[in-house]
Amino acid sequence: MPNKVKKEIKKVTTHVLQEMKKAGEKISMLTAYDYTMAKILDAAGIDVMLVGDSASNVMAGNETTLPITLDQMIYHATSVVRAVDRALVVVDLPFGSYQGNSKEALNSAIRIMKESGAHAVKLEGGREVQESVERILSAGIPVMGHLGLTPQSIYKFGTYQVRAREKKEAERVLQDSDLLEKTGCFAIVLEKIPAKLAAQVTRNVSVPIIGIGAGAEVDGQVLVLHDMLGLNEEFSPRFLRRYLNLYDEIKNAVGSYIKDVKSRDFPNKKEQY
Ligand code: KIV
Repeated sequence: MPNKVKKEIKKVTTHVLQEMKKAGEKISMLTAYDYTMAKILDAAGIDVMLVGDSASNVMAGNETTLPITLDQMIYHATSVVRAVDRALVVVDLPFGSYQGNSKEALNSAIRIMKESGAHAVKLEGGREVQESVERILSAGIPVMGHLGLTPQSIYKFGTYQVRAREKKEAERVLQDSDLLEKTGCFAIVLEKIPAKLAAQVTRNVSVPIIGIGAGAEVDGQVLVLHDMLGLNEEFSPRFLRRYLNLYDEIKNAVGSYIKDVKSRDFPNKKEQY
């Protein structure tokens, strides 16, 4: 008799991520902004998909992450959630939707969860967003923290250089990661900080630490999908490993298509009705 029972997929939850940290199993995370790519990432077995506000840069062509709106984030998140069977989907709270007003933070997080069907939200900052984190958690919404180079603060930093090289800022990262764990974040992203400091944070806290430009001694890695696929020629930080050169591949494919159309090679007899 054919087995009609669909194989049960073990979904990645915040609890699963914490178990992975305990077991020493590394967590894989990539950004996703649309249905088609999210479907491929899920089929490949990615653990976490981040609907990052980097959509502002890579999808919309803005210079920073600041312009993207809550409605736009919900649009991207909804498309990703439709594609996903297994991965945990985390959505960035965009700039201006949570800072300085915990009630607004809660409303923004509720809109993301209700309208997109995502599983968790991420926000940037430490002590300055503690009240917002607490309030979002009080509604049962899991929160991922983000420390180090927090791109929504780029005009405060003035540069995309490595953060927390100085003792004072390194201390702050240590204290804030401790605070975010105690407040109840289920995981924390550390962006572009010295590997030694990231390793220290990873040892100090019991929640998973996901690094981007934070070295190998963390619990998992995240990259921006378009960067690791080589879709973006201009962006080449030291931490980026390119797994494909899709910029050239796509450019060549489009060039071939143009040539075939102009030369009347496409469509041929088999490609028409
Ligand atoms: O928006 C984003 O892509 C991110 C990652 C860089 C962690 O926050």
